[in-house]
Amino acid sequence: MLKDFMTGTTAKLTLDGKTYELPVIKGSQGEMAIDIRNLRAETGYITLDSGYMNTGSCSSSITFLDGEKGVLNYRGYAIEDLANNCSFVEVCYLLIHGSLPTGEQLRRFSTLLNYYALIHEDMVHFFDHFPPGAAPMSILGSMVNSLSTYYPEMADNPLEDLDNMAARLLSKVRTIAAFSYRKNMGSPLVMPRHDLSYCANFLNMMFDSPVNPYVANDDVVAALNKLLILHADHEQNCSTSTVRLVGSARVNLYSSISAGINALWGPLHGGANQAVMDMLEEIHANGGDYRKYVEKAKDRNDPFRLVGFGHRVYKNNDPRATIIGKACDSVLKSLGRENDPLLAIARELEQVALNDSYFIERKLYPNVDFYSGIIYRAIGIPANMFTVMFALGRLPGWIAHWTEMWGDTNWRIGRPRQVYTGPVSREFVPLKDR
Ligand code: SDX
Repeated sequence: MLKDFMTGTTAKLTLDGKTYELPVIKGSQGEMAIDIRNLRAETGYITLDSGYMNTGSCSSSITFLDGEKGVLNYRGYAIEDLANNCSFVEVCYLLIHGSLPTGEQLRRFSTLLNYYALIHEDMVHFFDHFPPGAAPMSILGSMVNSLSTYYPEMADNPLEDLDNMAARLLSKVRTIAAFSYRKNMGSPLVMPRHDLSYCANFLNMMFDSPVNPYVANDDVVAALNKLLILHADHEQNCSTSTVRLVGSARVNLYSSISAGINALWGPLHGGANQAVMDMLEEIHANGGDYRKYVEKAKDRNDPFRLVGFGHRVYKNNDPRATIIGKACDSVLKSLGRENDPLLAIARELEQVALNDSYFIERKLYPNVDFYSGIIYRAIGIPANMFTVMFALGRLPGWIAHWTEMWGDTNWRIGRPRQVYTGPVSREFVPLKDR
């Protein structure tokens, strides 16, 4: 409970000659906060913090990250330990339930994932009515939202059956993602199989063919597991905050998650992995002059940004980028693509930026999106599916936060205040006189 983290000390605020004492909170990892929940009632003042650079929207026990130290933990476990030792399904269970599963719990959860892998046959026909070339993220958001029409009962007491609710979504979104790719390619749908793991099943649904059977190599399955784990949660990022805000109005899980999918699509957020690939492809097509792009990124008159660099919280290495950057070498070597020109450009770009005062002064480092697309591309996943892959990874985090919020008896509908700067009072003029 949050009350257990109240320090008993206060921050003093003097307004209009009166001094107010605001309680101070210290999180379990030592981060400090001033509790302003009663500020307006006591002082008549609100705070202003565009972009929420300094404002905590909630307390949470799911994920902790330290931007200065480049630390990321899920439920107290270091991301490096999880990424190097777990399956994505184990991490899904951890984020949603708060503990790593026992063997029996993992078996039961995996059985549910298999049970829920198919989507309603009517939903399969939805794919026939999207225009050719429809953006996969738009399809994903629409399909996930439509799941709420097939499971309306969930809206009432969703936490009663958390495992079924989570497994249903985790499994069906994987199928929807693969189906949207197959439809986009004009390929026949490949059904999920009962004998494959979560990631191997996804790859099989993406790439299997009656005339050219797909066999995922272990390195590729391991790389996809790692990538999905690294994307699984990231505290109150834009899309997770969106899921919480929509869910705070007591909106069902599917529609809340659909809102998160749409927020993730933005090129400043999850859409960056596709934008990184577009940038690397453009540099490669223009002779590989990556220095020109570094200079463009530094030019304040040029809207171009070095996509895959920078982060609202990490002002040190994004630990996920470090892990993915290392995984690039092993996966590409395993696929015989160790000489991928885009990887070479990315490596050069990283080195130039990390040694350039513009990036150093602003503490801009590669983020999770900088290298992930290179692995997805090597696996055979097209760039327009990269953000869908991000959504597939982030799904357990969104489910965990929505569940945490729904289970918080003190939770209230999210409704920020504002500072009004518009006209004060205007005399009405009827239309005939305007
Ligand atoms: C994700 O929040 C999360 O946790 C997100 C995420 C997750 O797991 O959910 O980690 C996933 O969204 C990663 C970020 C992916 N986006 C990109 O790679 C897009 C490129 N990056 C930037 O647009 C930017 O760094 C943001 C959006 C990520 C962060 O923006 P902020 O915190 O609002 O920082 P800012 O825009 O105020 O930038 C501060 C300064 C500015 O320069 P000055 O005005 O001080 O001169 O740094 C500059 C910016 O112009 N800057 C960049 C830059 N990023 C910031 N300059 C060039 N290239 C960049 N990439």
